[in-house]
Amino acid sequence: MAVSMKGKHLLSISDLTKEEVYQILETAKTLKQDLLIGRAHELLKNKTLGMIFQKPSLRTRVAFEAAMTQLGGHAIYLGPEDIKLGRRETTEDIATVLSRMVDVIMARVFGHDIVEELAKYSRVPVINGLSDFEHPTQILGDLLTIWEKFQRLEGLKLAYVGDGNNVAHSLIYGAATVGMHIWVASPKGYEPCEEVVKRAREIATATGSEVVITNDPVKAVKDADVVYTDVWASMGQESEAEERKRIFQDYQVNEALFEKAKDTAIFMHCLPAHYGEEVTYDVARDRRSVIFDQAENRMHSIKAILVHVTG
Ligand code: CP
Ligand code: NVA
Repeated sequence: MAVSMKGKHLLSISDLTKEEVYQILETAKTLKQDLLIGRAHELLKNKTLGMIFQKPSLRTRVAFEAAMTQLGGHAIYLGPEDIKLGRRETTEDIATVLSRMVDVIMARVFGHDIVEELAKYSRVPVINGLSDFEHPTQILGDLLTIWEKFQRLEGLKLAYVGDGNNVAHSLIYGAATVGMHIWVASPKGYEPCEEVVKRAREIATATGSEVVITNDPVKAVKDADVVYTDVWASMGQESEAEERKRIFQDYQVNEALFEKAKDTAIFMHCLPAHYGEEVTYDVARDRRSVIFDQAENRMHSIKAILVHVTG
């Protein structure tokens, strides 16, 4: 039975049930196949997306904009200097005004409280296009990629090596929701948020997966099906980049670490990457690296999200 997601905000992966995640993946798979064979859909005809960006983007912006265009709708880009969120006008007023004109809002912001506030005052669904705390649309594209490669998600082991950041938080929730085991290896003091781990473990009791946090990258990667990493300094943390390079040096995904995973393992990275830091160029270009499938799948999965939340 199809579950309706019409009107739903997507601020966190934990906003979605397992059924909803699979529904998005199924729709994404169909839309991807249809695009390949040239079957066009106008599922977002006459719909408008408002996109608020406080931070730069390649994949997220293009994925949302191309998704709207390909499905017959339109996207409006509002960059940091266009609306000057929080400086020219309050978040409350922006959400109120924008949602009287558009059908759906996407926001890439610093504080997670900003997407929460947009959602509170918006009449239309708000999608988190990355906050300092979560990156849910990234993880839906990632789950689509893993599903395509292994034809299943449940029971796989994903090892995330690096900073316990926004991508790590959404991966933890996503894995727990679909029943995938997740091991996160971070340096001391850079582990994922305890509250996220606690909530994810509650979700995981129903799906039978384990959520393990460690400081040992080798233990995490051992026999993993998926090895995932992200930059050591995220957008907004540029001033910490040099210090983090020292702290994270033993957490690089290189050939020696990647070979601890299963022979059939895939390598993933949300991109942009800093080659020679969190991952070597060789691992990123290994035949088992799926980083560019992952990037492409952002668009297919975002199409599905937009279709479902706009009804
Ligand atoms: N992965 C990702 O969100 O990429 P962008 O920052 O380029 O949007
Ligand atoms: N953790 C990274 C992800 C970029 C897509 C950042 O927030 O900059």
